[in-house]
Amino acid sequence: MTAPSGRVEEPIPAVDLRAQYAVIGAEIRAAIEEVLTSQQFILGPELAALEQEVAQVCGRRFGIGVGSGTDALVLALRACGIGRGDEVIVPAFSFIATAGAVSLLGARPVFVDIEPRTFNLDPARIESCITPKTRAIMPVHLYGLPAEMDTILPVAGRRGLAVIEDNAQAIGASYKGRKTGALGQLGCLSFYPSKNLGAYGDAGMIVTDSEEWAARLRLLRDHGQARKYISEEQGWNSRLDEIQAAVLRVKLRHLDAWKAARQGHAAEYNKLLGQIPGVTTPAVPEGSEHVYHQYTIRVPERDRVQRALAARGIASTVYYPVPLHLQPLYAALGYKRGDLPEAERASGEVLSLPMYAELRPEQIARVAEAVAAALRA
Ligand SMILES: Cc1ncc(COP(=O)(O)O)c(C=O)c1O
Repeated sequence: MTAPSGRVEEPIPAVDLRAQYAVIGAEIRAAIEEVLTSQQFILGPELAALEQEVAQVCGRRFGIGVGSGTDALVLALRACGIGRGDEVIVPAFSFIATAGAVSLLGARPVFVDIEPRTFNLDPARIESCITPKTRAIMPVHLYGLPAEMDTILPVAGRRGLAVIEDNAQAIGASYKGRKTGALGQLGCLSFYPSKNLGAYGDAGMIVTDSEEWAARLRLLRDHGQARKYISEEQGWNSRLDEIQAAVLRVKLRHLDAWKAARQGHAAEYNKLLGQIPGVTTPAVPEGSEHVYHQYTIRVPERDRVQRALAARGIASTVYYPVPLHLQPLYAALGYKRGDLPEAERASGEVLSLPMYAELRPEQIARVAEAVAAALRA
């Protein structure tokens, strides 16, 4: 790529898993080799160990490994008995899986607008959306920043609703001294490859303190079988396999260091971008720890800025260009543009900049300079 100076610049990807693999490749290959030698691929010792380790990282008693973050959400909702005729409160600004898990079960996602500074569910708007059919609230800790649980949990408690955290993007984050995933009844994690803790394929987990729910979820992920070939209820196949578990256990050893690196990069971005007129850097409310799964700014003329970055070899991403209530999938629910203005405004302004532990200071400086140049143009 050619800089305005005429110099050829190295592309900067949004996320660079190859840079990570260059550091941990030997550890990963050894761990996979062990699984291959054992020839035990499903529901074996690697998964059992990973479930304990992830539960511990989240400050929970139990972890139940499943096939993906989406499955974690679906199974958590199922375990709460949610299905046809029920309503679940979700933020209007998230990945489709947050709402898709609800509608897959025949329940209705009820979209609530976001708080513009944090991009998370606006707790002040929840209560007016609760009806006699509401069964649960599903806050999302978007981009790695905890939702405002101090307000959400009392509302849920008063109204007898379950709280299922969509913690797909925020493993390791904390809120007022407690880990995300340990704040509601059930916490759902995604180990999609580009997540802060990513597998080499699809994987997910549910964490909980409830022995009963843990046992139920173990049944649901494995055809309802309490014993081999004896099914007690309708379940299906959603298991986290031994190779993925072995990969995740290696990566888990690095998670704290990677988190610290991401937080350092965010501080550097904040310093450089905070001085640029028009750029809004991520807010971190008092008592919240952000783990920067994404480093997401707001900018005017977002699409033009994104194109200008691309022209200089800098990848950036829009998470998410269409809010959930305006997804074609949910046209029949009757929402229209203007109903949830903050989610709609965010979808037109957000831009996630390159963020991964191995990012170098000179790359951050280049990204910031390119954003400044685009806004000056
Ligand atoms: C907020 C959110 N919820 C749910 C999911 C679904 O996770 P998965 O892709 O592992 O199914 C993701 C990730 O993709 C996500 O970002």
